[in-house]
Amino acid sequence: MKQRAIRGPAMTFRGDPFLLAAGEALHYWPDALIRIEDGRIASVEDAEQGLESLPADVPLTHYPDALICPGFIDAHVHYPQMQMIGAFGAELLEWLERYTFVAEQDFADAEHARDVAGRFLRELLRAGTTTAAVYCTVHPQSVDALFEESERFNTRMIAGKVLMDRNAPAELTDTAETGYAQSKALIEKWHGRGRQLYCITPRFAPSSTEAQLEAAGRLWREHPGTYVQTHLCENQGEVEWVRELFPDRSSYLDVYDHAGLTGPRAIFGHAVHMDETDFDCCHRTGSALAHCPTSNLFLGSGLFRMLDAKKVERPVRVGLGTDIGAGTSFSQLRSLGEAYKVAKLGGHALTPEQGFYLATRGGAEALRLDDKIGSIAPGYEADLVVLDLKATPLLDFRLSYARDLAETLFVLMTLGDDRAIRTTYIAGEPVYERDRVESFVYP
Ligand code: GUN
Ligand code: ZN
Repeated sequence: MKQRAIRGPAMTFRGDPFLLAAGEALHYWPDALIRIEDGRIASVEDAEQGLESLPADVPLTHYPDALICPGFIDAHVHYPQMQMIGAFGAELLEWLERYTFVAEQDFADAEHARDVAGRFLRELLRAGTTTAAVYCTVHPQSVDALFEESERFNTRMIAGKVLMDRNAPAELTDTAETGYAQSKALIEKWHGRGRQLYCITPRFAPSSTEAQLEAAGRLWREHPGTYVQTHLCENQGEVEWVRELFPDRSSYLDVYDHAGLTGPRAIFGHAVHMDETDFDCCHRTGSALAHCPTSNLFLGSGLFRMLDAKKVERPVRVGLGTDIGAGTSFSQLRSLGEAYKVAKLGGHALTPEQGFYLATRGGAEALRLDDKIGSIAPGYEADLVVLDLKATPLLDFRLSYARDLAETLFVLMTLGDDRAIRTTYIAGEPVYERDRVESFVYP
């Protein structure tokens, strides 16, 4: 049995701070001892108590000026778009044509896909992100490249081949039949292999015919436990286009619902322009939303209505997405800083507890993995991030004035980024250490 222990201030969520008082939802240990056995958390307790029974031969790492959290979860991200982050000037539909569909064509080349997948996994780990729901491209080899690299780090990734059979360049389109067959083969190859999980990925309603959406729905029903991800109500022009393309459907979300693409393990990115019927449909079907604040601000798409989504009478599961490359940072601390501003412009102050919940346990609940990841508790997979509270001179100075944990968390949301990630543990192994000569090591 492989054992290790880490010690330091630690926090986890035991409930949803949108529904419970912050003090009930969040648990904090001023000095915790976390014991890890074979990649899972064996125990977490106050260090004073835990150290007494810790055998002398178990390696112990101490992080005194730190905060140990569950690894961050990115509920929506495109790995092939790493090469075009920060593309100037356009709104969604023009941005797709002008930049995205150009970059994604490069992934016909498996070598290019492997190179970018390697860079992508390292950026996630550098940001403290341990699980992500990832869009690949239409090319099956782009999915192999991502999962192969994820398998090397032993990260839990959810990913899939993009399906598009219209309104995209010929080089990036499949058909209802080939998209189904290729996705099915990838499910058989990857879903449940180690920590990898497959996600059926119709890009968005405008780039799939009804036949393709129906084939995707059929494939999902045939493979219980797999995921579905797509885009929803991101931009006004897009919503209008969907209305024209699907005149028989009552709303954008109804297009997916009609094709059997709503339910547990369905993840809808953006969901900016939603009405009460849409939120209610997500609540009823158990579908999740991925809020992507840096992207929504960058493309000028609009303001996600977090409080409406999380209404106590019919809460919807919400995760936090970076949406690289429309999003502008891999860091979920940066996403939280922008999520706060988005909420503020909508007249609501996102609390630091709500923010950190979205990035950890809330994301796990959205992805239906909250029995495995997103919390620090016995039996959970030991995907952990060690935040350095002295990462920069400004952070160190500012936090010396923080009166309590809530203020510390809020300042991390405001000032934090990848520099604050000291170590990222994957299944109990420190695969990323900022200050190590070789920052990244395969376990
Ligand atoms: N809608 C359809 N495709 C995309 C994409 O790649 N990024 C974003 N932000 N929205 C989309
Ligand atoms: Zn996206």
